[in-house]
Amino acid sequence: MKSARRDCAPGLVSARVLPLIRGAMPEPLIIALDGPAASGKGTLARAIARHYALAYLDTGSLYRAVAYLLLREGADPSDEKAAAAAARAFSLETIDNTGIRSREVGAAASVVAAHPAVRQALLEFQRDFARRPPGGAKGAVLDGRDIGTVVCPDATVKFFVVASPQVRAGRRFRELEAAKPGLTQADVLADLMERDARDAARADAPMAQAEDAELLDTTHLTIEAAFAAARRVIDGVIRRCES
Ligand code: CDP
Repeated sequence: MKSARRDCAPGLVSARVLPLIRGAMPEPLIIALDGPAASGKGTLARAIARHYALAYLDTGSLYRAVAYLLLREGADPSDEKAAAAAARAFSLETIDNTGIRSREVGAAASVVAAHPAVRQALLEFQRDFARRPPGGAKGAVLDGRDIGTVVCPDATVKFFVVASPQVRAGRRFRELEAAKPGLTQADVLADLMERDARDAARADAPMAQAEDAELLDTTHLTIEAAFAAARRVIDGVIRRCES
């Protein structure tokens, strides 16, 4: 694991770090998880949110909701104007729709996510969620592709979660196979590789590891082991800040 987070380190004072040095955790406490498709960041993010009583936002669901709206209207996800209009019209109800988890919507989500106007339309919602977490939570966990780099560059703790393509394809295949007879793991692997390449190559907010993010490779980790590793990092930051 690459160790890089510098909260509480002397000489690196930013507006966000200052309250930590005085011995208090920043409020809100923001935890950012980025990484490629099906790397385990969503499962990990939910476990972290539950354990630390933080609000959770799956930012991929926003892009999926925009893609879902477009596909439902028969619009082309590569049409930036139509995609931006859908992004401005999206609501949390659309996100609850289980249709957004499909393979087709995932692929279209990565097409709409490359449009700067779509990203711009969704940015304030995400930042607002982090700054003012719903339900009176003391902080928020956000997972996506650009949380540590663009949405919340001053997050308290950042992770970049990865796993080998084969392992990721196996995990996603098991999630999708019941709903899609005839689907193969090779199909899923091809989808993931295409999506990752598009997400990493786009000009606006590409998927990237923030320089102060911890690299967490879940290839050989169970969910419990990945959560334990993340907790060690988060508790370490909290302890350093409280001492
Ligand atoms: O769950 P999975 O890892 O398959 O993907 P997701 O998090 O649901 O994201 C779907 C797509 O939304 C990604 O392939 C990205 O193109 C896009 N996305 C993004 O551009 N920025 C984010 N912060 C989150 C997702």
